[in-house]
Amino acid sequence: METERPTMFDFQGVQMTHFFTDNWENVQNFQARPDDVLIATYPKAGTTWVSYLLDLLYFRQTAQERQASVPIYDRVPFLEIIHPCLESGKDLADKLPTSPRLIKTHFPVQFVPKSFWEQNSRLVYVARNAKDNMVSYFHFDRMNKVQPWPGDWNNYFQRFLDGKMVFGSWYDHVSGWWEKKKTCPNIHYMFYEDLIEDTGREIDKLCSFLGLSPSAEEKEKLASGVQFDNMKKDSMANYSTNPVMDFKISPFMRKGKVGDWKDHFTVAQNEQFDEDYKKKMKDPTLKFRTEI
Ligand code: A3P
Repeated sequence: METERPTMFDFQGVQMTHFFTDNWENVQNFQARPDDVLIATYPKAGTTWVSYLLDLLYFRQTAQERQASVPIYDRVPFLEIIHPCLESGKDLADKLPTSPRLIKTHFPVQFVPKSFWEQNSRLVYVARNAKDNMVSYFHFDRMNKVQPWPGDWNNYFQRFLDGKMVFGSWYDHVSGWWEKKKTCPNIHYMFYEDLIEDTGREIDKLCSFLGLSPSAEEKEKLASGVQFDNMKKDSMANYSTNPVMDFKISPFMRKGKVGDWKDHFTVAQNEQFDEDYKKKMKDPTLKFRTEI
């Protein structure tokens, strides 16, 4: 299992695999447009959820058709990925027939191609509390053949704290985007926990950021359409059509809740985590909830 998996290496101070750096020049030269919407996240923070939501929000008139036949990872391409089984994300994004184009990235903020800033495209960043994010990433790394093999949980826990994860340290990622947001009004920074707590309220915030005004009825339909159970059974949203994932190990849409870390962290790990967290996360304005 381990031998078939890619290895990580340091790339400009961030741990990466070749699947996300092989196309580096092309990706950096990507030509963004002013109406593009870039959905940025640390892996496992709710990327698919927000991609699905924005896709339905923008294309609600033709949603049924798109939803029935086009997987979410083709509707919202993953900009930096290049893999023999999949079309390059950059090529897919270039060819998107829609306007706006919805594009996803896991890049830390300093890796975002400059044209997104030059064009004043809008960026939606989704962050999830580190404990649940770590657990979700662990299960994902077990089932996703494009990711390095995670090893056992204890080892993975330490790696996460050390920032030795694909796309780098969670702490640097969420903090880097938060800092950027302070001076960049084109970034909407949202939290997975808020979406769980009140999906309708978060849709309202997204709509005002994006300048969209769906009817109350449309918003209600959207909020219920993007609930976990609906997305889990939708083969165009649950990644069951994706060739690089092994659903015998874990589903992609796994639990979809806040607080699953409690079933994974030992008491000692939780203490170690909290102690370490205080040292790394110094900005009091960036707050996460690990339960709701
Ligand atoms: P879990 O592994 O904790 O279940 P990403 O899309 O960034 O890879 O994130 C995947 C995580 O988001 C998974 O978390 C998945 O279950 C969760 N997720 C996806 N859609 C969701 C939804 N509609 N509601 C709640 N969680 C969702």
